[in-house]
Amino acid sequence: MTSPTTTTEPADAAAAPAYDGAPGPRLVCRGLAGGRGSNAVFRDVDLTVGAGEVLALLGPNGAGKSTLLLTLAGLLRAQSGDVAVDGEPLRPGRATAANRAGIVLVPDNRALFTGLTVEENLRVAAPRRGPKPRSMLETFPDLEKRWRVPAGALSGGEQQML
Ligand SMILES: Nc1ncnc2c1ncn2[C@@H]1O[C@H](COP(=O)(O)OP(=O)(O)O)[C@@H](O)[C@H]1O
Ligand SMILES: [Mg+2]
Repeated sequence: MTSPTTTTEPADAAAAPAYDGAPGPRLVCRGLAGGRGSNAVFRDVDLTVGAGEVLALLGPNGAGKSTLLLTLAGLLRAQSGDVAVDGEPLRPGRATAANRAGIVLVPDNRALFTGLTVEENLRVAAPRRGPKPRSMLETFPDLEKRWRVPAGALSGGEQQML
């Protein structure tokens, strides 16, 4: 395990190569263990998620599902084990690097401006030199018909898309 000294991202973290559409495992996790602070919550987690595959993780409240997902997304530092996306290892506890590699955690708490429209929410969230709000429709075309609707009037699933 690396020493838990810092969680800051290097300013020059390189963007991951774009996914080329090839079949095969995208996310691979081996022997992952993690927890909250020094408390162990899960261990020995091996999982593989292929391109286009949906994997459901089931368990009772408190089983550790959220802790595992936060760890995969780099928002919590793994206690041991490895995570790789498209064969590239992810450094533990580096949320921005995980995000660039394509891992995005969409929590139940959606943190939207409910009085602003879909378009307005995207404008507020967009980095100044980042992609234009409308380019998000390539990923979530269903939002087009809700473009000028307040986020608070969207369904739960539409809010998660947003
Ligand atoms: N913010 C937190 N700080 C400390 N412990 C936490 C925190 N969130 C969850 N836990 C503990 O981590 C364990 C796993 O919780 P969690 O991953 O949220 O489970 P699940 O998502 O499966 O319901 C539980 O014992 C819970 O009490
Ligand atoms: Mg949970």
